[in-house]
Amino acid sequence: MVALIDRASASQSGRPQRRLTIQTVDIAPDTTTLRSLDWDRDRFDIEFALENGTTYNSFLIRGEKIALVDTSHEKFRQLYLDALQGLIDPAAIDYLIISHTEPDHSGLVKDVLQLNPEITVVGAKVAIQFLEELVHRPFKRQVVKNGDRLDLGNGHELEFISAPNLHWPDTIFTFDHKTQTLYTCDAFGMHFCDDHTYDEDLELIEYDYHYYYDCLMGPNARSVLSALKRMAALPEITTIATGHGPLLRHNLQELVGRYQEWSQTQAKAATTVGIFYVAEYGYSDQLAQAIANGITKTGVLVEMMDLRVADPQEVRELVEIATGLVIGMPPQSGTFAANAKAGLSTIFAATNAKQSVGLFEAGGGDDESVYPIRNQFQEIGLTEAFPPIHIKELPSEATYQLCDEAGTDLGQWLTRDRTVKQMKSLDGELDKALGRLSGGLYIITAKKGDISSAMLASWVSQASFEPLGITIAVAKDRAIESFMHLGDRFVLNVLEEGNYQILMKHFLKRFAPGADRFADVKTYPATNGSPILADSLAYIECEVVSRMECSDHWIVYSTIDAGRVAKSEALTAVHHRKAGNHY
Ligand code: FEO
Repeated sequence: MVALIDRASASQSGRPQRRLTIQTVDIAPDTTTLRSLDWDRDRFDIEFALENGTTYNSFLIRGEKIALVDTSHEKFRQLYLDALQGLIDPAAIDYLIISHTEPDHSGLVKDVLQLNPEITVVGAKVAIQFLEELVHRPFKRQVVKNGDRLDLGNGHELEFISAPNLHWPDTIFTFDHKTQTLYTCDAFGMHFCDDHTYDEDLELIEYDYHYYYDCLMGPNARSVLSALKRMAALPEITTIATGHGPLLRHNLQELVGRYQEWSQTQAKAATTVGIFYVAEYGYSDQLAQAIANGITKTGVLVEMMDLRVADPQEVRELVEIATGLVIGMPPQSGTFAANAKAGLSTIFAATNAKQSVGLFEAGGGDDESVYPIRNQFQEIGLTEAFPPIHIKELPSEATYQLCDEAGTDLGQWLTRDRTVKQMKSLDGELDKALGRLSGGLYIITAKKGDISSAMLASWVSQASFEPLGITIAVAKDRAIESFMHLGDRFVLNVLEEGNYQILMKHFLKRFAPGADRFADVKTYPATNGSPILADSLAYIECEVVSRMECSDHWIVYSTIDAGRVAKSEALTAVHHRKAGNHY
């Protein structure tokens, strides 16, 4: 059975219509998915540039007893509840299984409870605790832990797998022994919306799958490895029913294998940063995620800890192994304030002067004041990795860019010895020989929405005639990397021989996180919106069409849309190097 309900929201303001649809599909015996398709959602969490929208997937399993796994985002309220009631009388549902309580999956739990106050909510202990805060009404509950089972009858024996931090501390997976389906919610998901229920076309989805992993799962790589270990102990899994994007069936082994490989790579990092935050308070979640993304670009492992429920022992252990700490200001009052305060005290007791620290406000309206906490760290002797990040109003794209760059600054500071060692590591002759490779000198400039960035580049080469294309090698920890994903547009500014020093000096300097790279630089906008440097010799407008991961760099292949030379007689500035192990 496949059914689609379409509700294109009529726009009275003349803005583009945004489409929300529901797809219901039978995916296994007695098992139906209700996929809420959010075709046009262009931002999710933080800097997810959602080219392809997203979906919120919910599942109905009918044994002798009936279970609903997760619900949907509240924006789908009417559509989802209509679709659910089209499938079943909600009063007949026995169990509502909560994979975790983030509102994109639990946004309609309250509505389901209204339709069926007798339903038993099944979740991890922490999920039930969070849910009490969310629904503000009594409900029947069943707390489950790793290995617990729930028999729905008719062969549908459900087994629960604890998967904390994927992506909240309350996450559980659910395995149906009859259909060999594993319900994983965020894990193995992707922000990708189309009519395909499954992952038939690997090439179509692999970019979004990887990007989603990098943003959401990479900062919890150790937790991913623990979950994979628990999954390996299950009987054969034939379908992974994710909470976002297509379900995995056709390329399941391959895609699970990639999680293993990426997480092992991350977990090998010698340096760890612990990020302590309070999810569901202000913008703590999103800001912490943006800082985490900036840190992981430098090859440093991040471990995130939600202070709502963190155990003091876990907090202490993380502080003891970390070389850097990032702390989001917790609320001064409310249900989780006491636990967060205890967490902070544990951090102070376990930290030491060799560590670096960065603080950020959560913007929840009741934040602990950042300055006394900053003073306390200074008294202990920690190095401040970036100035405290203040949230005065709604965070903007610029705020998230600032967080990302602050994270990168922290990661680069912590790995500075590694960088110096690398520069000294090559054999003398090889080093000199490689240094004879030369390139031109260019400035890449890019603008996305309200934010912009720039970078001096020399590893640039023409790569194709038809279509005209170039490649640029961009170090993974460069701020501009976030502006060079598939579909992004930028300008390559060519510097002029004998007339490049001022521009080169300007763009080579170290900018503070979030600083405007174009202050005091003459620019005018390209057709694609990116700044053209008025003093460059030539410019080329580019669009990213593919990226290849090469160890510490991305090779970005882009096609050319337009270009112009300012002085036809002048030559391109050339970058001559002495050594091949740095720029
Ligand atoms: Fe898709 Fe963590 O919610």
